[in-house]
Amino acid sequence: MPTAEPNRESHTPGALIYETDASVAQYLEFHYGPPLFGVANFPKACISEAAEHADGRTWQRALDVGCAVGRSSFELARFAATVDACDFSAAFVKACQGLQEAGAVGYAITTEGMLTEPRTASLAEHGLAEVAGRVRFFEADACRLDPALTGYDVVFAGNLIDRLYQPAAFLEGIVGRLVPGGLLMITSPYTWLEEYTPRDRWLGGREVEGTPQSTLTGMQQVLGKTCDLVGRRDIPFVIRETARKHQHTVAEASFWRRR
Ligand SMILES: C[S@@+](CC[C@H](N)C(=O)[O-])C[C@H]1O[C@@H](n2cnc3c(N)ncnc32)[C@H](O)[C@@H]1O
Repeated sequence: MPTAEPNRESHTPGALIYETDASVAQYLEFHYGPPLFGVANFPKACISEAAEHADGRTWQRALDVGCAVGRSSFELARFAATVDACDFSAAFVKACQGLQEAGAVGYAITTEGMLTEPRTASLAEHGLAEVAGRVRFFEADACRLDPALTGYDVVFAGNLIDRLYQPAAFLEGIVGRLVPGGLLMITSPYTWLEEYTPRDRWLGGREVEGTPQSTLTGMQQVLGKTCDLVGRRDIPFVIRETARKHQHTVAEASFWRRR
């Protein structure tokens, strides 16, 4: 099974956040908890959007890069015969595998300060128990994926691009893993931060040679060589921090078809 190759660069201060119990609990609640403030479940909404861009093609193989605790991977399994799902965080991948094996996993969400309350994430509750066996979860670095990971009909990279230490290298490498006509779906709120990505590698959100550059433009410069941009859409999400504090964000989804 492919695993992340040791690489000091990938251990950015930001990447370590995703190894904590608090992050695992926060993402389990985000992926499997109830909708908040009327905003639909983000990973489920993303994969529904991806399916609408399938353009009549049947998906055999799907790849979910930066899958976190796996909801989008299980949702992809409704549409694809097999799903490879990877994340750099060992704690996230362990949670995915635990959920897959047991069908449910317990966690504790923060209410206030040091106080928590118990919750359970369940695949059956979301109609995912029957398809869960189609997913293979493993640790991997999106910027250094194993060459064997190729031949995909669809690749989903949800809110990953602005958390990578080498986003352009990721984009350059990922397209070759799609079959011709395959779909790459990228979502991001484009919240670039130096704790994850050195500023000179940001794809947008900064001036390039004296001109303000958006991330979509930066992605187009890399992906436009091999892909057509076939759609864009805003997809909102809410992540709970405590019982009384939440992040409400709007990601942009872009859909790229390999020529
Ligand atoms: C903002 S979270 C988004 C997770 C999930 N796709 C979602 O939409 O909820 C970013 C994810 O990217 C993962 N990640 C960060 N750097 C990575 C890398 N170099 N390779 C693989 N995954 C990485 C993190 O561990 C985390 O799970």
